[in-house]
Amino acid sequence: MSTGTMKKSHSQWSSRMGFMLAAAGSAVGLGNIWKFPYMAGEMGGSAFVLTYLLFMFIIGLPILVLEWLIGRRGQKNPIHTMQDVAVSEGRSKLWGWVGIIGVLGSFLILSFYSVIGGWATDYIVLAAQGTFEGANGGITENLFTNFLGDVNSLLIWHTVFMFATAFIVALGVGAGLERGCKIMMPGLGILLLALVGYAAYASGSSFWKACDFLFTPNWSALNGTAILAALGHAFFSLSLGMGIMMAYGSYLGKDVNLLSTARTVVILDVIVAVLSGLAIFPLVFANDLQPGSGPGLIFVTLPIAFGNMAGGSILGILFFIFLTFAALTSSISLLEPTVELLEEKTHMGRKTATIVTSIIIWALGIACILSFNKWADVTLFGKNIFDLLDYLTSKIMLPVTGLGTIIFAAWMMNQKRIREELNLNAFWFNIWTILTRFIIPVAIVAILVFGFFPEGK
Ligand code: TRP
Repeated sequence: MSTGTMKKSHSQWSSRMGFMLAAAGSAVGLGNIWKFPYMAGEMGGSAFVLTYLLFMFIIGLPILVLEWLIGRRGQKNPIHTMQDVAVSEGRSKLWGWVGIIGVLGSFLILSFYSVIGGWATDYIVLAAQGTFEGANGGITENLFTNFLGDVNSLLIWHTVFMFATAFIVALGVGAGLERGCKIMMPGLGILLLALVGYAAYASGSSFWKACDFLFTPNWSALNGTAILAALGHAFFSLSLGMGIMMAYGSYLGKDVNLLSTARTVVILDVIVAVLSGLAIFPLVFANDLQPGSGPGLIFVTLPIAFGNMAGGSILGILFFIFLTFAALTSSISLLEPTVELLEEKTHMGRKTATIVTSIIIWALGIACILSFNKWADVTLFGKNIFDLLDYLTSKIMLPVTGLGTIIFAAWMMNQKRIREELNLNAFWFNIWTILTRFIIPVAIVAILVFGFFPEGK
């Protein structure tokens, strides 16, 4: 181990289960419950949803496997892992740039992620105050619109959420969070199922309308914009392209089967997203709300369910607690890379590094908050600050670093070793090779080009 770069002794996950939980905790977050439904709504439903599902399995899953594989080889932070693995494969150290863009991206994502995490936290309090009781679509829409205009509340909740993230990261992700995860994640799953049940029961035929909207193929809605969004979201949803999964892989023991673990994580991630869609869209149609109403979608729809179902207040409180928790297990994974880098590259200790990074991210988050109200008119390329941050990260940085990772893994690394490590027979190895060497890189490049110059829109 080289001196100086590693302050942290390189521990390993206690078990395959512990690793899977951490990876799933990072993957399952606001992306599944908040972002996926509103994107599906904006992009016209099924065309986006089906493309996203396809990308999760043919692009997301192989890249997830490869990020873990590279991380397990490198045993360091993403930047040094990329450099070291490149050098050991006889390649240029410049591959470290894939890690650098990744760290930068995680920093930018967290600045808006924390603002939305703050919304979820505020909704715990609103649910506890009984604000949703008897609410209909008009009421919840007003509530949310007023909230977006209220800079002070947004700022307070963003601060609370960022503080919680920083606090956990500064302490080191200890047993508390892992144990919490074990309770919260299944809890979230059960509550989502209950919400789907309520939506099916209370909204009658609107449930089928929602299924139709989400799953009956409607390829006419498919254009460059939607395909790029689906690709970007597959990356976002699996926490790919930011070196995060690489870092998690670096703590991984040799005996863990990467393919089967990745399959479980992808399936879990997809299930949470689909359940969220099935809980939300029946309410959208039954209450004459707009599917394409944007980032406020879940905050406008779900309170209607909580306001009108038996025991809704308690379920509402629990739901937003679980949502906040799912967001926290993702946000700590977004803060970690920058903190780790500062800790290793400067003389700051872990606490100082966490405080410095968090304050900068927090300040950037304020710009994002203002873009929902006072600065709504401040735009660049027709996008406000929130949209711009989201576009830059999800639609450019994540796919570009993903492309770098796949080209590196498929063309720069020794394929025989990868085959042994993944335990593939000749048949599957051929498919794997065609996928990783040709189909995935070509698809990403095509989608990026196509997405920048969409026809029609
Ligand atoms: N995957 C998380 C979600 O769906 C968000 C997230 C956490 C993320 N870490 C990431 C996205 C790294 C991109 C890269 O909410």
